[in-house]
Amino acid sequence: MNLVKRPRRLRTNDAIRSLVQETILTPSDFLVPLFIIEGIGTMKEIPSMPNYYKKSLDLTIQEVRELWAMGIKSILLFVQVPDKLKDNYGKEALNKNGLMQRSIRSIKEAVPEMIIMTDVALDPYSSYGHDGIVENGQILNDATVDILTEMSISHAQSGADFLAPSDMMDGRIMGIRKGLDQNGFTNNGIMSYSAKYASSFYGPFRDALDSSPGFGDKKTYQMNPANSLEAIKEIVLDIEEGADMIMVKPGMPYLDIVKGAKEISEVPVAVYQVSGEYAIIKAGAEKGWIDENAAIIESLTSIKRAGADVIATYFAKEAIKLFGY
Ligand code: PBG
Repeated sequence: MNLVKRPRRLRTNDAIRSLVQETILTPSDFLVPLFIIEGIGTMKEIPSMPNYYKKSLDLTIQEVRELWAMGIKSILLFVQVPDKLKDNYGKEALNKNGLMQRSIRSIKEAVPEMIIMTDVALDPYSSYGHDGIVENGQILNDATVDILTEMSISHAQSGADFLAPSDMMDGRIMGIRKGLDQNGFTNNGIMSYSAKYASSFYGPFRDALDSSPGFGDKKTYQMNPANSLEAIKEIVLDIEEGADMIMVKPGMPYLDIVKGAKEISEVPVAVYQVSGEYAIIKAGAEKGWIDENAAIIESLTSIKRAGADVIATYFAKEAIKLFGY
């Protein structure tokens, strides 16, 4: 054949392939979600997330030291709250000595340089498992924003660097920014879960924290997976309201949204490879149907290629070992 252009030339061997490789993962791309539970020396594997553990604070601190040594710069904290502390208003979320607040303080003290981001939402604290206050079967918006603002201030007082509201109430970024500023926390950032979809891929996370909605679903606040226009609207609004970073969630099924976000966003774009995405890869590998290591690197590289500046992932440690740092 008389071909002038032969794209395979650039795929001839490893050396040329790496020379022209566009997307390269590094440890500082990752934001590592950590699940903290009460107790000492306690760790529990999450059944639907093989090899991922909920850990008591002492073990979490060890884990954070290890992550820092591996080159990871940021963690995202979640806590599991016992049922007896749950109510409709998430009162426990404001407890200065609650598990979240204690965890932030201790981790900050142990590894001061690690960027601590905290999940800001009511669901782990809510007796209804919803991200907001429930009244007559509805999720109240504005009253919930007030609590999320208080919660953010409480996390900032404990030493959190970034607040990560994952609730999808309208106006919460404005509320939280104002609250932080009025209390002198002008240097604490907000990473907003801006384009968060009502996704089936959060199942294992809800198992982990026992935070499934007690009635109904989250479709009146999380977005319809069929839509992309409202992702743009949410992102633009959150940036206007003061978000320092925005997030798209889940990851792999939503890479078109990630690409669109990257094109319009003036702030860094984070992407959450969620619990269900982790579970799918683990389950496929367990059955011997897919190559786990290759799938980990391919999925994370694809998320970065689509436009992610930061990737929240349960695979961070495994990925770093795979790329040999
Ligand atoms: C809580 C929250 C959820 C996740 C992160 N923060 C669950 C939900 O919205 O129901 C999901 C993360 C994951 O699945 O890995 N607001």
